[in-house]
Amino acid sequence: PQVTYITPAGETRVVENAEGTLMSAAVANQVEGIDGDCGGVCSCATCHVHVDPAWQEKVGPATAAEEGMLELEDEATEASRLGCQVTLTPELDGLVVRVVGR
Ligand code: FES
Repeated sequence: PQVTYITPAGETRVVENAEGTLMSAAVANQVEGIDGDCGGVCSCATCHVHVDPAWQEKVGPATAAEEGMLELEDEATEASRLGCQVTLTPELDGLVVRVVGR
């Protein structure tokens, strides 16, 4: 799918044919602000994003494991997801997220 990342600096990065997860696609395309330090096992929160309100229902809520990590993050909101836990599917074509990172 096509994914738009709004970086912490406010830049818009559009990634075409994004593959894997919101984290791995960002790392593969050098999207600023998403480091993926833990390699995608939900234990670093460097892949923290806020899902655009229009997409929150399709993306779904954070899992219990994500909630455990997000509790430690100052900028956690109801829109928060850890990018490594969001698998990119064709249904998510056009997705927009704001990078929080860490
Ligand atoms: Fe570490 Fe997502 S990459 S929590």
